[in-house]
Amino acid sequence: MKLIAGNSNRPLAEAIAAYLDTPLTKASVRRFADMEVFVEILENIRGEDVFVIQSTSYPANDHLMELLVTLDGLKRASARRITAVIPYFGYARQDRKTGPRTPISAKLVANLIVTAGANRVLTIDLHAGQIQGFFDIPTDNLFAAPVFAKDYFDRLGKGPTTVVSPDVGGVLRARAFGKRLDAELAIIDKRRERAGDSEVMNVIGDVSGRRCILVDDIVDSGGTLCNAAVALMERGAASVHAYVTHGVLSGGAVARVSASPIVDLVITDSIVATEAVRMSRNVNQSSIAPLLGEAIKRISDESSVSSLFD
Ligand code: R5P
Repeated sequence: MKLIAGNSNRPLAEAIAAYLDTPLTKASVRRFADMEVFVEILENIRGEDVFVIQSTSYPANDHLMELLVTLDGLKRASARRITAVIPYFGYARQDRKTGPRTPISAKLVANLIVTAGANRVLTIDLHAGQIQGFFDIPTDNLFAAPVFAKDYFDRLGKGPTTVVSPDVGGVLRARAFGKRLDAELAIIDKRRERAGDSEVMNVIGDVSGRRCILVDDIVDSGGTLCNAAVALMERGAASVHAYVTHGVLSGGAVARVSASPIVDLVITDSIVATEAVRMSRNVNQSSIAPLLGEAIKRISDESSVSSLFD
């Protein structure tokens, strides 16, 4: 097995390499003067089972292009099998036509990854489960839920808890997480009655006096999460905590979360922590390196990955 790290998340790649006790293959990713990406694999990989670890996180286009040219280089160097390990799959929110003359970019990116040379994909918490089907190659979509559930039981313990989906689109994810925690379910229904009017947050379910756990796949501007937390507190929640797989946290998102009623937000390391995340008072990372490492090991051994979903 060979592990190759792109530039998007070196700490996660190194943690996966440590878990597998396998060094990262030497590769160089360079830029020409006009910023074109050039990748060179510096070790023989002919006939090898190769795993390329690269999130298509900010700057998304650069990291995506880096992944594509790396896959192409590996294919042309006669790797036996190439797995694109994409802890954070960007462009996932563009997974359907939202209006006339708009692209389905998630499908386009999936096509690019397959055309570039990937034989398999390993990822975690795709924005929508059906994106798995955008790839016409085997794709394992792991869940961060077991990692989050462990953190919950270690740190927060049992108690009257309600798992809350901050929008209608996340209900399945919240219901599954609630089952793991043996918790109730609540759903936030965001609505704008008229264009220009402020958002009305309807909370469906019992949150009064309960510890509320918001779960989501992505926190980007932090707006969805922070507005949900305010709505829950206004309806008498005892406290609000959050688990979100991908900490995109653009712009002033960390400051927004810090100023919100959220006691703590746990994200994974699918995206490398910014300085703001590292310094934050209430944002913490839980590592998915062992989960991804174990999945890579099992894919390489041709053994089952299904128990990793438990
Ligand atoms: C939306 O469907 C996603 O699941 C997230 O809720 C959304 O991307 C979060 O974005 P933001 O943090 O900018 O509100």
